[in-house]
Parts: sequence; structure tokens; C-alpha cells
Amino acid sequence: MVAGEGGASAGGRRRRLTYTVTTVVGARPQFIKAAVVSRALARISGIQEHWIHTGQHYDPELSQLFFDELDIPPPEVNLGVGSGPHATQTARMLEGIEKVFDVHRPDLVLVYGDTNTTLAAALVASKAAMPVAHIEAGLRSFDRSMPEEVNRLVADRLSTLLFPPTEAARANLVREGLGGAGDVEVVGDVMYDALLATGADRPDPVRIARQGVVSGQYALFTAHRAANTDRADRLAAVVGGARALGAVMPVLWPLHPRTRSAIAEAGLAIGDGDGVRIVPPLGYFDTQSLVAGAAVVVTDSGGLQKEAYWHRVPCVTLRDETEWIELLGGRWNRLVRPLSAEGVRAAAEAAIAERPSEWPPFYGDGQAATRIAARIERWFAEGHAGT
Ligand code: UD1
Repeated sequence: MVAGEGGASAGGRRRRLTYTVTTVVGARPQFIKAAVVSRALARISGIQEHWIHTGQHYDPELSQLFFDELDIPPPEVNLGVGSGPHATQTARMLEGIEKVFDVHRPDLVLVYGDTNTTLAAALVASKAAMPVAHIEAGLRSFDRSMPEEVNRLVADRLSTLLFPPTEAARANLVREGLGGAGDVEVVGDVMYDALLATGADRPDPVRIARQGVVSGQYALFTAHRAANTDRADRLAAVVGGARALGAVMPVLWPLHPRTRSAIAEAGLAIGDGDGVRIVPPLGYFDTQSLVAGAAVVVTDSGGLQKEAYWHRVPCVTLRDETEWIELLGGRWNRLVRPLSAEGVRAAAEAAIAERPSEWPPFYGDGQAATRIAARIERWFAEGHAGT
């Protein structure tokens, strides 16, 4: 319940019975994160949550599948913005979100991570003087050529409540002058909450067998970052790396649609008797089981780096840097710039051979969403949303 409902707050203002929170999501990982926070918010009476789906991801296996699997009610609004160049896609979101907020003005806007959806929602809300809470605040690659880095810099700057997952993320915010005002709380990682809350931490052998691989004897491979798909030399090294690894052990590659088009456009061959099995993008539970069963995960995804570690599987990240620096220190993850096929193969083999024995709990205790909901409840009780 919103504390002191109907009574007078410390500042003498009357408190309201109900506060509204609008969650804005659009891309696959955001559905997973928001589902777990949404459940925590639902346990607090006096908070009413609404969802806007921007439609950034629209293919059934990148969107609807996650709503079905995680039992998420359909969002009240789907803007259906679809794909396009960054400015075009973001502009469509800005326009669509503004129209919704014109009709239903929430007391707080919740945004996740670093996608164009995050940027658009934070921008519209700020321009309309609505407070924003940013979950996964403070992560930095320090590479502004990454669209995600620009998105999170802006989202953090515009947010009132900041929820970094780690102390390192909080330190980044402090360095940028965003650490004051008591509105920053290190909460842990909501993706870990999701893993534990859904039981996906326990792999399902049927899901592994269904993909034609044997537990402990294959590599799980994914790539979708612009830096790897939009540069011919890198894309060739990524594809070549999968093939080189496929000569050593079976490689399972659920292919993101963006990467599928890039490979086709570049005229590269993959998955044809080369030890690489190409499959369509997988749902949440298949992915978790396949991570858990892998000998190594090779990826450029942020989420998979952590999921590999949670399942105690070593990871190779096909990037120049990572936001999840704890995993590098713990040796659960290693960075490989995808410049040569052999480099990718050698890194994957070394990761398997040098799998760490220590498993420090880097990303919280699975209670991040509860902490976020509690902070939001207190924030409303403090009278910030007005009366
Ligand atoms: C986006 C995020 C990225 C996140 C990823 C999660 C940005 C800038 N990037 O990348 O940070 O890690 O989501 O998956 O927001 N496409 C389809 N069907 C879809 C969606 C996309 O075919 O349902 C194809 C289109 O060709 C599109 C391309 O994928 O142009 C890229 O999609 P987009 O949403 O722009 O970025 P992602 O690469 O998915």
C-alpha cells in the first residue's frame, strides 16, 4: 500500500490513493526484465501499472513468444513502430508515446536498459515534466559509436530514480555527477530475478535434446550487435569463427533477423555441413536450457554474458569491451575482438579449458525487482509525484 494513504505526508501534503506507473518496453530483453518488476509492483496496493509496447521488436519469436511464456498480459498500447533507421524509428516512438501520455499522464515512467525504446520514452517523459525511473542505470561501454551507449547516457541523465545493478554501475553515475540526491540505489540485476522466479535456472534436458545437441558438448553462438553485423570484416570473422569452432564441436546458432539479413547480403555461407546448426531465435526457456547445457557461450549480447555465468558456463564476448566488467575479473567471460575466425575459435577453446572454479555472486540475490518496487513505493509516499 502507498504508505500513509489518505493521510498527511512528512511535508504536510495529502497523499493519494493510487499512483500510476507506465512501463515502456519494445525489445526482447525488456519483456523479461519488465515482467519481473511488474510482478513486484503488483504486490503493492496503490500502484497501478500500464504498459506501452513500442513495437521495436515485432516478429512473434522476438516479442509475442515472451509475453506468452512469461505470462505477461498484453500491453494496453502497441505503437507498432517496427524497424527503420535510428532517427526514423526513434521519431515514430517519440510521436506515439507522446500521444499516449497526452491522454494518460502517468506519475512515473519506467524504462529499461539501452535500446531506442529506452531513449524515446525517457525523452518524451522528460519533455512533459514526468519523472523517469531507469532500471539498469549506470552501465557504460565508454564507446559512443555504440547506439546503446548514447541511449543509456541520455536515459540516465534524464532519470529521477536510477537503479544501477552493481556498485561499478553506481560509480559510473557518480563520476558523471548523477550519484547524489539519494535517488540512486544499487539493486542487483533483474535478469537474475527473472531466472530464479521462473525456474529457468534449472535446465530442461528435453529442450536441449530437441535442438539436436548433447549437454556439455556444444557451443551456443549468437551475434546481433551493429558493430558485428554492419561491418563486413567483422561479420566475416564472426561467421568464420562459428565455422572454425564448428570444426571442433557442434555449434548451435539461434540467428537474429538482423544478422540473418546481414549474412545474406554479404553472400556469406553458414550452416551447411560445417558443424554449425542455424535455428530461428529461441524463447526464454529454450535459451536458458541451451545456455545451461553449453560447454561455452559465444555471443555479443549483454544478457547472455550474465546468463552464461549464472548457469556457470564460460563465455566469450565478441566485442571490444563490455559493460559487465565483473565477469572479466572473475574469468567467466573474456573479450575477443572478432577480427579473425581462428581468434574466435581459440578463445572459445581457451574459455572451456580455463573454466574458473570460483563463482562469486556478482549481480545480487534475485531480489532486485522487490527493491525497485519498494523504492518506488517510498518515493510516492514521500510526495514526489504531487498530490
Ligand atoms: C535492439 C537493441 C539492442 C538489444 C536488442 C535485443 C537498439 C539500438 N538496439 O537491437 O541494444 O540488445 O534489441 O534483441 O535499440 N528485426 C526483425 N524483426 C523484429 C525486430 C527487428 O526482423 O521483430 C530486424 C530488422 O531488420 C531490423 C533489425 O532486426 O532492422 C534490427 O532491429 P532493431 O530493433 O533496430 O535492433 P536490434 O538489433 O534488435
